Amino acid sequence: MITLALSKGRIFEETLPLLAAAGIEVLEDPEKSRKLILPTNQPEVRVVLVRASDVPTYVQYGGADLGVTGKDTLIEHGGQGLYQPLDLRIAKCRVSVAVRADFDYQQAVRQGARLKVATKYTGIARDFFATKGVHVDMIKLYGSMELAPLTGLADAIVDLVSTGNTLKANHLVEVERIMDISSHLVVNQAALKLKQAPLRRIIDAFAGAIRQD
Ligand code: PRP
Ligand code: MG
Repeated sequence: MITLALSKGRIFEETLPLLAAAGIEVLEDPEKSRKLILPTNQPEVRVVLVRASDVPTYVQYGGADLGVTGKDTLIEHGGQGLYQPLDLRIAKCRVSVAVRADFDYQQAVRQGARLKVATKYTGIARDFFATKGVHVDMIKLYGSMELAPLTGLADAIVDLVSTGNTLKANHLVEVERIMDISSHLVVNQAALKLKQAPLRRIIDAFAGAIRQD
């Protein structure tokens, strides 16, 4: 059995064409079913649905043989025990710093002010501000980061930006672009040895189907 860990939403949707290239078709729609294990047209391949931030953990400990995960999540996880053969170039977005439109971020940085930063990405944020020489008080959140500057919880957020619509709708502005993000294929290192042929077939099919645009 080969188990692939995916998260619902954009990563699931954008992985489907890559699976199709490997001759794999998922037989149930996660938006319509509450099932967490989805069968495919190949009896020896199944998909498990996990929280996006749990994909590297599932693959690291062998709960899944392979998975698709954002570079953001992979960096926060650390990547221990994971073979990372492919940048799939899907689910593209960026990690940015955003503040309220009426907050002068550049001046705060120039003046060496201590910034209150709310984020789910504490590792990425800590590294970024440390490199910049900016002192921060980090506030760990698990979602809806945009609310933090609006309620006075934080001066700035570090979060994913895709279309920019969420920032705009909440009157926030992007003041720094930290890194570009896309999703990567990760593989359990032991599984790669034990199930080499079927995993290689999937990796090669994915590699051949990556869009270069
Ligand atoms: C993500 C991200 C941003 C938004 C970016 O949030 O954290 O808030 O999408 O997309 P946009 O630039 O296209 O608006 P998500 O909806 O996944 O919710 P969460 O942060 O509460 O998990
Ligand atoms: Mg969000």
